[in-house]
Order: sequence, then C-alpha cells, then structure tokens
Amino acid sequence: MADEGEDRDIGGQTEPILVVSDAEMQAIGAALARLLAPGDVIALNGTLGCGKTTLTRGLLHELGLEEEAPSPSFAIVQAYEVPEVRLPLAHVDLYRLDDEADMEELGLDDYLYDGALVIEWPERMGSRLWPHALVLTLSMDDPAGPRTITATLPPQWKEKWPFQ
Ligand SMILES: Nc1ncnc2c1ncn2[C@@H]1O[C@H](COP(=O)(O)OP(=O)(O)OP(=O)(O)O)[C@@H](O)[C@H]1O
Ligand SMILES: [Mg+2]
Repeated sequence: MADEGEDRDIGGQTEPILVVSDAEMQAIGAALARLLAPGDVIALNGTLGCGKTTLTRGLLHELGLEEEAPSPSFAIVQAYEVPEVRLPLAHVDLYRLDDEADMEELGLDDYLYDGALVIEWPERMGSRLWPHALVLTLSMDDPAGPRTITATLPPQWKEKWPFQ
C-alpha cells in the first residue's frame, strides 16, 4: 500500500496552493525566482486568463526587471538579459504555435546554457517539454475569483519546493 510520500516520489502533484489575488500570484513568481538556477524550466499550464503571465511578471520583477513584462503572446519568445535581470530568462508563450515541430526553430535549448525558461501553454509542445521542467497547473472556477496552483516536482525541485 502506497503512503502519501511514496505517491509524491512517483511524480504526483502537490496539494493545491490557494492564490487569492493578482498580488499573491506575483509573490509566488517572486518566490520561485529566488530559487531559479541556469538550466531550469518552469512550465505554466492553465486556461486563458488564469494568471500565467501574472506569475511570470512577479518572477521577472524579483529578477530585477523594472518595467512590467509584456505578454509574449505575439512575439512568442521575449528574452531578458543581464543586467536588466540577474539571471537570463526567456519568457515564452506557445499559444500561437500551430505545429509542435516549429519548436525547433525557436531554439529554446540555447537559453538553458546560462539562463532559464518560463513557458506558457507548454501543452503546445507536447512531449517535447524537458523532463526536468517544474510543471505548475493553474486553475480557476471564475475569472474574478481565486486561483489554485498544483505542482509536479522534478527531482531537483523536490528539495527546494518552498510552499509546503
Ligand atoms: N490569483 C488571482 N486572483 C484574481 N485574479 C487574478 C489572479 N491571478 C491573476 N489574476 C488576473 O487574471 C487576469 C489574467 O491574468 P494573466 O494575463 O496573467 O493570465 P494568463 O494565464 O497569462 O492568460 P493567457 O492564457 O491569455 O496568456 C489578469 O487580470 C490578472 O490580474
Ligand atoms: Mg499569458
């Protein structure tokens, strides 16, 4: 019989984190920024308008970005370099990616040599998502209401997961 700890070890999701405001969503992004290392990938799953860009804005602000990060919905990739941020980060929004195979042209692997990736709509890349990605699933019942976040933790995030 599997106990809870064993469930988590085989890649189950964490308990949901309740996020009651835009500011709290940004604070979660900021907490993750403090743990982010070169090579890390954060995948943000969740429906339209559930807070993926908001979380990423908090993360980028904590990395030192002074202006408000735009949503990369049209650009697909918005890259930030030192010194505007202390760790190079590419903010990616795959919503408009029509074909998984077009991923190759984005060259996202290159960012991981010395930086990190945050990816909205990672569903669009299917099984091409890096296996070491931290996968966060954001959800909401109502656009005006609270959100929840559950995480699927790869090994390197299990030790440093700050929320429970
Ligand atoms: N926890 C929260 N509680 C209430 N509102 C929130 C919360 N988090 C984000 N919002 C609000 O939800 C709206 C949409 O957020 P955001 O643009 O971050 O979503 P998204 O997931 O990036 O959407 P898209 O799929 O279009 O990229 C914003 O107005 C934001 O302020
Ligand atoms: Mg967005």
